[in-house]
Amino acid sequence: MEITIHAVAPERRKDRPKDAELVFGKVFSDHMFLMDYETPQGWSNARIVPYGPLSLDPAAMVLHYGQGIFEGLKAYRGADGRIHLFRPLENMKRFNRSAQRMCMPEVDIHFHLQAIETLVRLDADWVPRSKGASLYIRPTMVASEPHLGVRPATEYLHYVITGPVGAYYPEGFNPVKIYVTDEYVRAVRGGVGEAKTMANYAASLQAQEVAKKKGYTQVLWLDAVERRYVEEVGTMNIFFRLKDELVTPPLSGSILPGVTRDSVIHLAQHWGLTVHERPITIDEVLDAIAMGTMKEIFGTGTAAVISPVGQVCYKDKTYRVGNGGVGEWSQRFYDELTGIQYGDKEDPFGWVHTI
Ligand code: COI
Repeated sequence: MEITIHAVAPERRKDRPKDAELVFGKVFSDHMFLMDYETPQGWSNARIVPYGPLSLDPAAMVLHYGQGIFEGLKAYRGADGRIHLFRPLENMKRFNRSAQRMCMPEVDIHFHLQAIETLVRLDADWVPRSKGASLYIRPTMVASEPHLGVRPATEYLHYVITGPVGAYYPEGFNPVKIYVTDEYVRAVRGGVGEAKTMANYAASLQAQEVAKKKGYTQVLWLDAVERRYVEEVGTMNIFFRLKDELVTPPLSGSILPGVTRDSVIHLAQHWGLTVHERPITIDEVLDAIAMGTMKEIFGTGTAAVISPVGQVCYKDKTYRVGNGGVGEWSQRFYDELTGIQYGDKEDPFGWVHTI
């Protein structure tokens, strides 16, 4: 399919913020990609147009029943000025797995990537030049058919927006404090927890507000059945350095299969570290903190990159992880991953996709 481009006139391009002023997800680039789906014809009308509001019927099914999915990936500017994507086809594949789970149409992964490449090239000036800053890319699909009966929609809108971002957490790479909730649950096996669907994020908000009021950055979710097993942080997956082994909860159906999670596992194995994808209870985590065998905890995600955890709160008791600072392994994974993403370090796995 051809992608039609309606570019913004040079004099109407928006001002770009300075890299040092960037936060996460507030500023958007000049253009966006869109295409439409109709049953049974399939996808059509692929276009890049000036960034702006969408026109959706108030009865569009996404607005009522939440049939919507998204992805998150980043474009990084290398020291040589070239632009890199990091394992983009993994995001395109996960987008389709989310689509399947939500009864939505798939998008050809190579066409999806081509659309993103075309969009990023057109808005190449928006890709920040400083380390730590990047262009966040947000592919999205929503059910656009106006209809109030509950069933999968027959019409969809797929769009991609981008915007320059800095660190996701205000703490930057400094340790975050996480709050373990046993009151609320994020997802249950058999539900939609492993799909990147909007409802998972909506479901997390109330616990997130509780955590915030208590002074914590994020919620650490436990499994929805026994409320004992650690699952994920909602905006990131979670890793534990237990003695000198890396432990992360297995992808049991209620956890988002993170691309950064997978990359950390690959890197750790490449370095000869022992990695266990196994269930881990909150009691085991807290006992290990108390005994001093829990050396580090860190989260992984596209937006969050590697996010060291300095404190954990459970049942109103606070536990400090190690010395509360950035752990050695967190630093090593952060340096290696960002080094590969920005093109400063060798890429032994062929993860970088230069555009
Ligand atoms: C990401 O890491 O890209 C995410 O989608 C997490 C969050 C910002 C919703």
